[in-house]
Amino acid sequence: VTEFDDAGWAPLCPLAALSTVEGRSFVHEGRAVAAFRRGDVVHVVSDRCPHNGRTLHDGHLDGGLLTCRWHGWRFDVTTGRSPDVPPGEEGPRLRVYEVRLRDGRVEIRDPGPGRSAT
Ligand code: FES
Repeated sequence: VTEFDDAGWAPLCPLAALSTVEGRSFVHEGRAVAAFRRGDVVHVVSDRCPHNGRTLHDGHLDGGLLTCRWHGWRFDVTTGRSPDVPPGEEGPRLRVYEVRLRDGRVEIRDPGPGRSAT
């Protein structure tokens, strides 16, 4: 792994610190992020719902689809897109972080301004 490949990656937490049932909120570089673990797969997205800015870590994740507990907006945690937006429309978009596991620790990388919104 070159130094370039490590650019932007930052530790989030030990994998063991994440429940496989409930999401958890963290602060990463001044932004609230929500982490979800299913087995050894971790998804990290913005913890601010695009609808009204409320928390998403306490939402319901089922099959990669995250439902906000407040008013039910839904987002695909791998793309940040909502399945409820008609095809061809941009719609609200959730910031999705890149995730990697290293020695039992979760590391994330901000997707950057050009790749995701919120
Ligand atoms: S704040 Fe998430 S659906 Fe309203």
